[in-house]
Amino acid sequence: MKSLKILALALLVFAASCASNTEKPAPAASTAPAPTPDVGPLGEMAIPPDNPITPDKVELGKKLFFDTRLSKTGNMSCETCHQPDKGWADGKPLSARFDGSMNTRHTPTLYNVGYYKQWYWDGRAATLEGQITAAWRGQMGGDPEAMAMTLNGVDAYKADFQKVFNGPAAADNIPKALAAFVRTIRSQDSPWDKYQTGDKSAVNDDVVKGFDVFSNSDKANCTLCHLPPLFTDTLFHNVGIGFDKPMPDLGRGKILGDAAEKAGKKDPEADTLKGAFKTPTLRSITETAPYFHDGRAQKLEDAVDLMLKGGIKNPNLDEKLKAKTLKPQERSQLIAFLKSLTPEQKPFEKPQVP
Ligand code: HEC
Ligand code: HEC
Repeated sequence: MKSLKILALALLVFAASCASNTEKPAPAASTAPAPTPDVGPLGEMAIPPDNPITPDKVELGKKLFFDTRLSKTGNMSCETCHQPDKGWADGKPLSARFDGSMNTRHTPTLYNVGYYKQWYWDGRAATLEGQITAAWRGQMGGDPEAMAMTLNGVDAYKADFQKVFNGPAAADNIPKALAAFVRTIRSQDSPWDKYQTGDKSAVNDDVVKGFDVFSNSDKANCTLCHLPPLFTDTLFHNVGIGFDKPMPDLGRGKILGDAAEKAGKKDPEADTLKGAFKTPTLRSITETAPYFHDGRAQKLEDAVDLMLKGGIKNPNLDEKLKAKTLKPQERSQLIAFLKSLTPEQKPFEKPQVP
């Protein structure tokens, strides 16, 4: 499988022990990536050195992703909220956790999340393995030690873990296997990617003009934040979503503020990034409605119009987001372009859970 190329030199050096529900972002040390052969539009993915991807590990992680044994209630899995036929999101504005409490943020897609360096809408997780452990506990009521024991009582899993990790299932290798699988969830090979690699018949003229509207600094200039190839800069911006409510979610600003307070320091970004959230990818955007961190926009058109309007006014609105006036034709070309970022859908083959 092409998407499973293993990096000889991995980028991220990180603490493998980062496994708490309330983890704080740790500084991620990085070194320059080694020159690598062309691996498609998204490039090489940085794989942590202590969790190399192997096909067997991915297969194991795939089974775990769909296994309700990982939930406290026995009727939830990662799939409950990250469904392959809903763009690995869940189609709801907000969804309920294992204990019936509601999430306050919309379930994001898992497409291409292996390319991020910080996870969650507010970037509070510094490793994917740590994020997944937190999701397991927080969303599904996972008890890693107890559930590892349960898995070790299933012969097929026992053999799988032995093969992949040379030992039994354990609190820390379950998230590792899940992370290996999640890193293979990609959105690439869209009509727009095909066009860019020379297949001029992959898209129509509206799409080509729509890319100009999208990226041109005299037009919509969305690339200021939705930067190709991921169509996100993976950074945090306040576009005002939530500032029309009495108690807006402060997103990245809250994370930085709490960290600064704990360290007894001042962080100016804690103020400027109040209400900032990670720029979402626009790849496979047609599959992942509703939109925004509070799931308020049902239709892609609504989300685009809110962006074109310049977001929602508030004191911290990112200066990169300006109201734009497009001709109706330019607006529909822009939307045609965004639709060309969804690859042809192939039904995902779910694994046999032992
Ligand atoms: C009850 C619903 C629910 C379940 C079950 C769930 N998640 Fe999530 N997931 C969410 C929500 C909501 C967020 C965003 C939370 C936030 O940003 O504060 C999220 C975020 C994520 C992210 C971060 C994406 C990004 O763009 O940074 C990953 C990765 C992820 N989940 C993987 C998993 C895995 C793996 C499992 C199973 C162990 C799982 N999730 C179970 C709802 C769920
Ligand atoms: C200042 C940076 C910035 C600019 C410029 C920008 N966006 Fe966004 N965009 C964001 C952020 C941040 C969000 C998520 C906001 C939230 O949910 O709080 C977002 C969300 C979206 C969403 C919803 C995606 C999802 O999965 O929820 C769409 C669609 C979108 N933007 C399209 C556009 C278009 C089209 C343009 C150009 C007209 C544009 N954006 C310009 C930062 C930006």
